[in-house]
This record gives sequence, structure tokens and C-alpha cells, in this order.
Amino acid sequence: MQVTSLLRYSHVCPFLGHSNPNQLRALANGVHGNVSSLTATAFRCPMMGPKLASMVATRSYASVAGNKEVEEIHKSKDIPFDPSSATSEKCPHAKAASDAAAMAQKEADTKANPATEHAPTHEKDTFKYTEFYQGELHKKIADKSYRYFNNINRIAAKFPVAHTANPQDEVDVWCSNDYLGMSKNPVVLETMKRTLDRYGAGAGGTRNIAGNGALHMSLENELASIHRKEAALVFSSCYVANDACLATIGSKLPDCVIFSDASNHASMIQGIRHSGAKKVIWKHNDMADLEVKLKSVPKETPKIIAFESVYSMCGSVAPIKAICDLADKYGAITFLDEVHAVGMYGPSGAGVAEHLDFEAHHSTRRSGASVKGSIMDRIDIISGTLGKAWGVVGGYIAGSADLVDVVRSYAPGFIFTTSLPPAVVAGAQTSIAYQREFMGDRRLQQLNTREVKRRLAEMSIPVVPNPSHIIPVLVGDAQLAKEASDMLLAKHQIYVQSINYPTVARGEERLRITPTPGHTTEQITHLVSSLDTVFNELELKRTGDWVAIGGRAGVGMVASNPVLPIWNDKQLGLEDGTAPERLEGGKKSVVRVEAVRIAEKRLHHLLEPSLVGTVTAAA
Ligand SMILES: Cc1ncc(COP(=O)(O)O)c(C=O)c1O
Repeated sequence: MQVTSLLRYSHVCPFLGHSNPNQLRALANGVHGNVSSLTATAFRCPMMGPKLASMVATRSYASVAGNKEVEEIHKSKDIPFDPSSATSEKCPHAKAASDAAAMAQKEADTKANPATEHAPTHEKDTFKYTEFYQGELHKKIADKSYRYFNNINRIAAKFPVAHTANPQDEVDVWCSNDYLGMSKNPVVLETMKRTLDRYGAGAGGTRNIAGNGALHMSLENELASIHRKEAALVFSSCYVANDACLATIGSKLPDCVIFSDASNHASMIQGIRHSGAKKVIWKHNDMADLEVKLKSVPKETPKIIAFESVYSMCGSVAPIKAICDLADKYGAITFLDEVHAVGMYGPSGAGVAEHLDFEAHHSTRRSGASVKGSIMDRIDIISGTLGKAWGVVGGYIAGSADLVDVVRSYAPGFIFTTSLPPAVVAGAQTSIAYQREFMGDRRLQQLNTREVKRRLAEMSIPVVPNPSHIIPVLVGDAQLAKEASDMLLAKHQIYVQSINYPTVARGEERLRITPTPGHTTEQITHLVSSLDTVFNELELKRTGDWVAIGGRAGVGMVASNPVLPIWNDKQLGLEDGTAPERLEGGKKSVVRVEAVRIAEKRLHHLLEPSLVGTVTAAA
């Protein structure tokens, strides 16, 4: 029975959305001519009908016209209804409708030819793979954790605008992790194009066999230098880097115990699992709890404390110094995931650990030598991504030469996979080098974050308090969070993804907003007023409502300490007047020429002719 699979389309099809599984099952079992009543209903849908009709045209099923009931359902859901021109270009739901149509057709075929419904007799006792898959999917649908992907195509020349399935429909993207817009930075694009022309599309092999070039090593030197560590190692993603590093070190260190923050990312959790080491979970950012747990393990036992700097779904920031102190006291090493912080914090964009000794690192920012006793120096292993603030793709670890060599030598996730394409590694290094020289993007990103948070607070729209660049707008219900996201997209041309369980706890569902330096004042105004409208229409709880029921996820709760942003006024240039200006009235993003020159020189020896001048003119 395909009913459970059809329910996957509930969010895009008004009919499926307002039908329950039993109703659908009854329709599927009912007979209408030579098809089921469900298929007959599908034929009446203005979106699925034409698709079904074209799929079965050779069998001369009836074509469809508008249907009053379906029209009313569409209207009640505020979805444009125009059966005369029901094409996939016109209807944002048509792709899903066409997939659902294919399923309905399959069901009709099965009814017409029952022999195909079941496995042949001799296979009667074999495992029912399809039923199994459908059962697993049904569980996801039932607990509302089934994931729906939006069709979002970010347009480089119009950052932060994207088009949806229809290239004519444009929306403002407010939830991308391309935090600084580096995916469209001209020096990055130019470098990648030249590398592609010179070195081709793929790396040609693993790092061990033909896939280790000067560009890969150059990127690793850049990463070691920005984190002021002896060495770095690049992976195809930071998911792989975290998994491979923790699994390798955790399994090599004898009887190792890994202490993992309760909010750690799936990649770290997977790495710890793969290590086979004993895992101890400590309460998120809770130093007292961590200490109690560290104390319970003999001092001479090898230990890893694994945590993140910026937690991406709530925006909280780890007390890195306090964790280093505990690590020293109890003989542990530290593994810090700076995925949501690299490019974003610190004078050179090395992350929160760098930011915490801002002045010391700023005054020596081109040296690459460690600042002894600084927080970044005290962290043993840093992992990061090339795919978020640096705008490309890939991941890495940085640490001591010996540690990195152990991972390089033992980690299957590093050894047995094709290395990143030359254009990717060249683009990533250029992006890092540019951001090392220019603080303007991350400063403006922070200023925009402050502005959005301020304006949401004015409207009593609840934001989970935090000191970082993440703006989690609390909704507190999975269905409502999804509806709010859908409404923003369909009615206000704003894309903000809803975040539901299991990524966040049930009851703490939210819209996760991430401003960029490319968002204009006009776009900010539109976002805030659209959110206000959606909060009214869906009757979502405002901050006062959360206060009245004791608060949730830090909203409407009495904070023991005020939350101060990581970037202070001085670091943002607000005290000496050097803060970047917000984009408004058609003002274009700034591309810093000096940073372009320095960034393009990094690979000058490999990518002749010189780029100097090309990008500057384009900017
Ligand atoms: C905290 C954290 N670590 C690691 C990763 C994986 O990074 P990548 O996207 O490079 O695989 C993510 C991805 O979103 C993340 O949020």
C-alpha cells in the first residue's frame, strides 16, 4: 500500500494535507471504474491530473478539468488555483505533485495487474524491502521529523536572493550558512575559474594516488597558519573530518574516555561512536557537570573533551577558557569544532578561540606563530569547515604535526577517498586569505545581526538569547514552525528554514535566521514586518506569552547573566568610527582591493597570468 508514502506530500498538497491516513486508505481500497477511488481523485487534481493524464495518455484515460472541491481546498490554503494553466512552472507544488502522481499511477497499475503487487510465490518468504522502507519513512512522518527540502537556487549576482523551482520567483534567503557571501566573492570565483582551466575538474585520485597537489598542500599550510598550529589536514567535509579524527584518535589512545558536550553535532557523535572509546556526555556548557565527570576518571587515563565554539541551532558559545582550565587540571586534550565560527570571529577569522585574545592576535595576524598561553594555543585540535563562512566546501583539522600525521596515516575517511578538486581547494584558500586581510564582512554581519535582534525584540518576537550571529526565533511547535516557514516563502518571498526535532528538542522548534553582510536595510525591514504578520496570522507566542508560562529555551526566563555579544563595540569599530556601513538605497557590497591583491598572490606562482587588476576592475 502506497498511502504512507503519499503522506510525505501532505505539506505541499492541500488535499493530502487535510486527509488522514484512514481516509486515504479507504479511498485507495474503494473502486472507481477500473482504478481506485484514490487514483480517481488524483485525476481530478488540477496539478496531478494533467501529469497523470500525460503518463497514461496511450491508455486514453480521461483528461481533467477544474474541480470545485479541489479549487476550494487550494483557496483555503491560499495556493494559486488556475487549472487552465496548471503547469509545473506555475505551481510551486507541482514537482511534489508529479512525484505523488507517479506513486498514484503505480498504485493504479498494481490494482489493474495484481500479479505485480506481490512477489512471485517462490519469493514469498523473502524480506519485504519496500514495506520495510515505507515503515521506516512512516515513522518519520508520524513523529513529524520527516524532512522536506525546499528548491532554493541562490543567485551569485543577486546575493542573498535565490529563485525557487520557478526561475522567475525570487526570494530573500535568510538562513544560509554562506554567512559572509564568500561563495560569490569575485576573487574566489576568478581563482576557481582559472584553476579549473589549468588543472581540470577533478583531483584524479586519493591523496595517496595522484590526488595530492601543490594546491592541497598550500591550503593546508594556510589553515595551519591561520590557527597557528604546526599542521592541518583537509577532508572532503568537516563531517568527515570530525568523524575521522575523533574515531582515529579515540581508538588509538589506550582506554580513552571522550567527554562530549550534550549539544554536540552529529559528526562528532558519530566519530566518538566509531572510536569505540567510552563516551561521557556532559550538560551543555555546564562546567560544574564537566568537572564532576572528569574527576571520576583516573588522571592518567587519556581523555578528550569534545565541544563546539558556536552551537549553530541556539547560538550559544562554549566557555572555551574554562574548558581548557579543566583539561589542564584533569590531563585531557581538547577537540574544538569551530565550524560556525571560522571566518566569523577573530581578527583574521580563525574563530572564537582566536577572538578571545583579539588584540594579541590582531597585532601579529600575519605571522602564523602561536601566541603562547592564548586560548587558541591551548586547544589541541581545531576542526573547521570550508563550506560555511568561507563559502566553498570541505573540512579540516589543525593541531600538532604528530597528531595530524597520525590521522593522515590511520584515518580511512581521509585515506580512501578522492581528494577535493583543485578549483575547490584554490577557491577555499583564496577565501581564507581574503578574510584574513579584511574584517569588514564579518563586522557588517555582526552589525546586521544586532539590528535584526534589536528590531525583533521591539516587536516582542521571541529570540533565543545568545552572544553569536545566530538568530533562533522560537515557535515551540513543529507544525506551526513549518507553517510559518511555508507562509514566509509563499506570501512574503522570504526563505527561512524551520528547525524541528531531532535537530532541536520537541517544544523548542524554531526559525533559524542568519543575516549576512549582503542583506540590505530594506530587506531587514521586510523580514521583520513579514515575521510580525506571520506571528499574527498563526497566533504564535510572543515573548510575553512565553514569560507567562515560565519561559522556554531561554526565552522569557530570568537570565543569571546578561548576554553580551562576542564582538564588542570596539572590535566592531563603533567606538572609532571605522564600523562598516549597512547596505541601503542601492549601495553595493564592498570588495576590499588590498585584500584581493594579497589573496590572489597566494597562488600566483601556479595560476599565471596574474589576476591582479581583473578582480579589482570587476569589484
Ligand atoms: C557543528 C558542526 N560541525 C560539523 C559540521 C559538518 O561540516 P561540513 O558541512 O563541512 O560537513 C556541521 C555542519 O553543518 C556543523 O554544524
